[in-house]
Amino acid sequence: MSAQASYDELVKRCKEITLLSSTSSILYWDQHTFMPAGAAAFRADQMSLLSKLVHTQFTDPKVGELISDCEQSDLVNDAVSPEAANIRELRWQYDKQTKLPADLVEEITKITTLANQHWVDARAKSDFKIFLPWLEKVIALEKKKADAYGYEGEPYNALLDDYEPGATVDDVVEVFKNLRNELVELLQKIKNAPKKPDVSIVEREYDVKLQKIFGESVAAAMGFDFNTGRLDTTTHPFCTGIGIGDTRILTRYNPNRLNDALFGTMHEAGHGLYESGIDKATHFGTPMGESVSLGIHESQSRMWENQVGRSKPFWKYFLPQAQRLFRKSLAGVSLDDFYGAINNVTPSYIRVEADEATYNLHILLRFELERALLTGDLKPADVPGEWNSRFKKYFGIEVDKDANGCLQDVHWSAGLVGYFPTYTLGNLYSACFFDKARQDMPDLDQQFERGELLNLREWLRNNIHVHGQRYRAGDLCKKVTGKPLDYKPLIDYMTAKYSEIYGF
Ligand code: CO
Repeated sequence: MSAQASYDELVKRCKEITLLSSTSSILYWDQHTFMPAGAAAFRADQMSLLSKLVHTQFTDPKVGELISDCEQSDLVNDAVSPEAANIRELRWQYDKQTKLPADLVEEITKITTLANQHWVDARAKSDFKIFLPWLEKVIALEKKKADAYGYEGEPYNALLDDYEPGATVDDVVEVFKNLRNELVELLQKIKNAPKKPDVSIVEREYDVKLQKIFGESVAAAMGFDFNTGRLDTTTHPFCTGIGIGDTRILTRYNPNRLNDALFGTMHEAGHGLYESGIDKATHFGTPMGESVSLGIHESQSRMWENQVGRSKPFWKYFLPQAQRLFRKSLAGVSLDDFYGAINNVTPSYIRVEADEATYNLHILLRFELERALLTGDLKPADVPGEWNSRFKKYFGIEVDKDANGCLQDVHWSAGLVGYFPTYTLGNLYSACFFDKARQDMPDLDQQFERGELLNLREWLRNNIHVHGQRYRAGDLCKKVTGKPLDYKPLIDYMTAKYSEIYGF
């Protein structure tokens, strides 16, 4: 078999495997939107069968042989050609996946699908006892997974690498060390600032039907295509790029607060633009048809949510629009007051609703607990106590109930341990990328003031989306910005914003 024939066979197999896994993506979406609760056990069987099939097909020794054939050919000569990138990433995935026994993969899917249902129940009742036995099972399985992968240092490294290929605990600790000191200083300045925004502006009555209309119009202005995508409602918003022409985003509405659904929708639409900006028509099923890492994914969502959605130029155009919909609640509200209200900084319980300044402290807390759960230094039963005492330390407030504490996030119930740091990496990448976008388009603010968001989308598409996994995250950052990932752009951006709003 020629190398090209091996490559073609490899791609054919990968496409079939991705068609299968995209089917579980749609089942996952359904599970979080319309599935009746009574179908949970059946759905767990469906999902675990699919994950077993995907795993078995991908870890077939023939796939390994095909990858080896390609590696020994001149297909890999140009390291950033689509072929070389695909071969490099498939080798990495294959080596990891073949370390996981099929029955472990099946069990993880089954247990996490059930755990997720119990988490929904536990969160609704704010009763950790309902979730505890499932958290114990999930952590035990995640440890098994880490052991199967093998790792240097601590088990967390093995899991983090699934979400942020190549990143290590040491990298994350380093990022947090710098970031934390700067954040603490910034929060102190905000606390002692002479000016305080009037947050009540966004905490009035906001009709959910109108919120939906407004959110959809903003997503459309961003370039989210409702012909190839949907926006629906769920408990824990997410985005899933199911395949060619099918990108689903989810949000949740709070009738007494504008921020949650609005910025949630912009966030998920940012993920959605990334998914639909990847050239799946050419590369579906291969790494070139996939996003780089969760950190890069999150950089896209956070940029739209924060650098765009929480900016003054954006609202110069969109506030009058919002005022036409929310006539009573936004009547007579000035741009400056509205801008202050949506950027209000205050310690709060819920990560996904947190302001930009406190957000990364939420991540730090989860990162520390996850590490301790995996090393065994923290027992699942002690999670609420440990969560609450750290929360008090970082945020200065007592957690009132577990639904507002350790039960708020979907991740652990879904087996996504090692995932949280990618949020902070995403915030850092988003600031670096946005600085460069601004350099390349010096009139970006003026564009936003006219409601024109599509040039930014094009910039992101051309610089980031179309590359799929051609580059790894760190290399992509260097390629796009000319510099490695740095925490300073994020701190500079926040300092500029908050010094204006808070007058320090
Ligand atoms: Co996100």
